[in-house]
Amino acid sequence: MFDFQPDPDQPKAVLYDDLLSAAGALVDGERDPVANMANIAALLWQFLPDLNWAGFYRMVDGELVLGPFVGKPACIRIAVGSGVCGTAVSERRTQLVDDVEAFPGHIACDGETKSELVVPVVANVEVIAVIDLDSPILARFDDEDRVGVEALAQRIAPAISH
Ligand code: SME
Repeated sequence: MFDFQPDPDQPKAVLYDDLLSAAGALVDGERDPVANMANIAALLWQFLPDLNWAGFYRMVDGELVLGPFVGKPACIRIAVGSGVCGTAVSERRTQLVDDVEAFPGHIACDGETKSELVVPVVANVEVIAVIDLDSPILARFDDEDRVGVEALAQRIAPAISH
């Protein structure tokens, strides 16, 4: 049994350190990418307050396809270059969006979403997936979140690639 007890009142950097340790404990020794993505999505949901969606889109045959997540049912396929997720892939960099209404081409899967953080997961120089976090609060994510989720993406990349 895994019984992580995140304390949302601790400084963000500490919260992300704990998240990274928990992620390592979950994925190390397990080679099934779906199982690992599912547990990481659950962990993000458990550790990070004020989210309405947390999960993965995976690169499959040149487009993003929905992966394991927590939240409401979401758009299944996203073209590279489309929306926040597709832009993270085409630009190969994190997209930190304070107000999704102001992001050209944002894809509204859940009308409650106000801000979004999308981090590419890179393995062997290829973007293999993105981690997508949505919040119902404007400007929910800051640079500490970006750094924390980028570190997580790097840590779990080998555990979610085939
Ligand atoms: N908003 C995303 C689509 C995915 S959902 O948020 C789960 C986008 O614009 O790419």
